[in-house]
Amino acid sequence: MKSLNNKIVWITGASSGIGEALALKCAHEGAKLVLTARREDELVRVAGRTGLSEDSILILPADLSDLSRIPGLVEKVNSRFGRVDVLFSNAGISSRALALDSTVEIDKKVMDIDYFSVIALAKAVAPGMIGRKEGHIVVTSSVMGKIGTPLRSAYSAAKHALHGFFESFRAEIAQTGVKITMLCPGYIHTQVSVNAITPTGGKFNKMSKNQLHGKDPMKFAEVVIRGIKKDKLEIHYGGKEILGPILYRLSPKIVNAYLHQQHEKNRFAD
Ligand SMILES: NC(=O)c1ccc[n+]([C@@H]2O[C@H](COP(=O)([O-])OP(=O)(O)OC[C@H]3O[C@@H](n4cnc5c(N)ncnc54)[C@H](OP(=O)(O)O)[C@@H]3O)[C@@H](O)[C@H]2O)c1
Repeated sequence: MKSLNNKIVWITGASSGIGEALALKCAHEGAKLVLTARREDELVRVAGRTGLSEDSILILPADLSDLSRIPGLVEKVNSRFGRVDVLFSNAGISSRALALDSTVEIDKKVMDIDYFSVIALAKAVAPGMIGRKEGHIVVTSSVMGKIGTPLRSAYSAAKHALHGFFESFRAEIAQTGVKITMLCPGYIHTQVSVNAITPTGGKFNKMSKNQLHGKDPMKFAEVVIRGIKKDKLEIHYGGKEILGPILYRLSPKIVNAYLHQQHEKNRFAD
């Protein structure tokens, strides 16, 4: 994927944060966009910010955790634009709960949007890409897809699962011309902590210090676009937190002791 000019780019989680930044950057690169998230009014706002004309953008609101809707959504994109060149599967929610406080029902809710909707969308979009021998699936995982931290068990589990699925899938389709890139951001300045799910199923509703001081989503989107043009398999971006998975490989014991100590000091609480 050397250029996004005239490419059909579908972005999920496009109503805010990283997805919004990707929409703005892709529009700037000449892409035609499909924007998906639950809040239609926010998608309309983002569409306005892209400056694209109506015939270059499709607003496709949906709750992606309703997996039964996914084939219908893909049909709508195909009937409007005929294909998907790049899928940014980016919609997701974080969690804020001790593992023992989070019921399996809450864990499943996180899994539905952060894992099952992502693989369902890939399974629905990839056959068209394989048929055309080109296309790119870009999945927003997290540094927490590489290392689990306290109070994020459901989130971290879902993001880890993405790596298992897409590493297998990528090896299966290596000869087809379809590329898969996993994004592993650290802290990015978005509403992800505000929107995180709690043990009661409600919203956490607090801006975490980590996100508040996190990296600019527009800068991250720039790095992502550069990376996918080079067909990178993974893109790691953030502050010192992205060293966590590397240190964990070197010494799981030391990193585990550090995570425990930080948990005791309530450092993961927001
Ligand atoms: N910010 C970070 O520090 C960070 C770090 C690592 C990974 N990430 C990942 O980055 C991705 C984007 O998050 P963000 O940081 O940009 O946070 P955000 O501002 O909260 O954005 C999340 C996006 O996902 C959409 N979404 C959530 N549930 C959905 C559902 N059921 N169906 C459809 N869309 C849904 C939201 O839109 P609606 O509410 O309108 O549905 C919103 O557009 C997520 O996968 C997140 O896990 C973020």
